[in-house]
Amino acid sequence: MNWERFSCSVPGKWVLAGEHAVLRGASAVALPHPELGLKLRFEPDRSRSGLRIDSAGDSAAVRELIESVRESWGEEQGRSFEMPSGTLTIQSTIPIGAGLGSSAALCVAMTRWFAEPLRLLDAREQGEFATRLEHRFHGRSSGMDIAVISAGEPISFGMTLGPKSLGVRRLPRFTFHDTGLRARTSECVYRVEKFREEEPTAAMRIDEAMAEASRLAMEGLIAYDRGDRGQGVEKLVRSMNQAQECFYSWRLVPGDAQRLEYELRKRGALACKITGAGGGGMLVALWKHGNSDS
Ligand code: MEV
Repeated sequence: MNWERFSCSVPGKWVLAGEHAVLRGASAVALPHPELGLKLRFEPDRSRSGLRIDSAGDSAAVRELIESVRESWGEEQGRSFEMPSGTLTIQSTIPIGAGLGSSAALCVAMTRWFAEPLRLLDAREQGEFATRLEHRFHGRSSGMDIAVISAGEPISFGMTLGPKSLGVRRLPRFTFHDTGLRARTSECVYRVEKFREEEPTAAMRIDEAMAEASRLAMEGLIAYDRGDRGQGVEKLVRSMNQAQECFYSWRLVPGDAQRLEYELRKRGALACKITGAGGGGMLVALWKHGNSDS
């Protein structure tokens, strides 16, 4: 096993529509975050044994992740895993628990680092490996966060269909706003599951509404990118409003997030929704003027 000098950068992610319903077969629309990301660098040092982890985040979680790979590599593959010797530096600007893919970014970057020594040959193998790593953080995930961070471009994603590039480069102006609240994805997924047990018919309708919001989001992004800005924005507004309604129905919009949404709408946001699992985290707002290249 050869641990060479290595570095990579990956973006955070945000979700325009489809959260939660994606876990039950709906398509979702996800995009790389335009500003936030994670950098991983490994500097080998064969003169000393052991791995030094230099991370402003949770070094223990990184070490635990590497240990878990070492163990499963031995068990599943029957092959020995030689621990890297050197310094691993991880710098991330993605806030933890804010729905912007902090753990998925770490898992994609770690997978890219492991790809050569573990011979993870193609994108599919690497995607599966990164998704397995991410399960250690969230329990079962759809794989959407890993897919969009790996792709580094706007995608539609379905659990059976996998990721599909939307091929869009021009986006309208979206901004991100911190509710100041943090929530675990697994806890939010559990709350939606509980709601489904208590109100199965309503829950089914909400999943359908979220799937429809995704369809509108896709059409809106594609229309905007083609230059049909009015129609694109109109569809995006409908999509985001409908998706946000789903979060309200699941009771995943806490009071502070509602107040922030109200403020943003008062300041002229055309639409505003939670992005990610909900329960707090970030709101994304859509504005009338300006656009940004993805
Ligand atoms: C998290 O970004 C989105 C969820 O749908 C979970 C998942 O897709 O794994 C809530």
